[in-house]
Amino acid sequence: MARMAEYWNHNVAYHPVVLDAVPAGCAAALDIGCGDGLLVRKLAARAGRVTGLDRSAPMIDLARRLSAGIGNTSFVEADLLAHDLPAGGYDFVCAVATVHHMDFTRAVTEMARLVRPGGRLAIVGLARNHTPLDWLISGFGVPVAQANRLRPGRGDPADVPMMDPDMSWGQVRAEADRLLPGARFRRHLLWRYSVLWTKH
Ligand SMILES: C[S@@+](CC[C@H](N)C(=O)[O-])C[C@H]1O[C@@H](n2cnc3c(N)ncnc32)[C@H](O)[C@@H]1O
Repeated sequence: MARMAEYWNHNVAYHPVVLDAVPAGCAAALDIGCGDGLLVRKLAARAGRVTGLDRSAPMIDLARRLSAGIGNTSFVEADLLAHDLPAGGYDFVCAVATVHHMDFTRAVTEMARLVRPGGRLAIVGLARNHTPLDWLISGFGVPVAQANRLRPGRGDPADVPMMDPDMSWGQVRAEADRLLPGARFRRHLLWRYSVLWTKH
């Protein structure tokens, strides 16, 4: 029986956005920057097989331990931008709180390459405030974050690599629109955006 480490944070809050984007009949899914594998374990109920990829050896070790016993999951310790994954090899590719650790253009281009025609890409990410409107919108998240501070299970996995985003909300949106024509960009309350894209 697998040990399920369940917790809630501002990334986990948007797992439903990712899970709802999984296409029907998804045979192969890939989670980039999978961390401790929580989302991989959730995806395992919706896809034939799920691969979690992360460049952090401790994270991959943890993900493997926590996912032991879930037969349709596997984990790869690798850098997305230096690893040779099959073009069009996945029905669904996702990344949560990971793209800002890499060059955005290269990361999104590579993720799009990995999706098969007809498949989907889902990105949940962080961006930085730049304009007064950015700051105003971010302010609306403060009471919601405060209200969730004492929520049971509130927390982050220990030792997960984190960094601050470089790109502003506007820059992310413009570059996502350029790289992923027809993508749906949304800015969410708890300081995350999502980009959903179907490859045609
Ligand atoms: C902030 S954590 C997010 C982990 C998980 N997705 C979550 O939502 O909790 C970012 C993860 O991306 C991984 N990562 C960063 N750059 C990467 C790259 N180039 N290739 C693969 N993984 C990467 C880090 O090791 C880290 O585990």
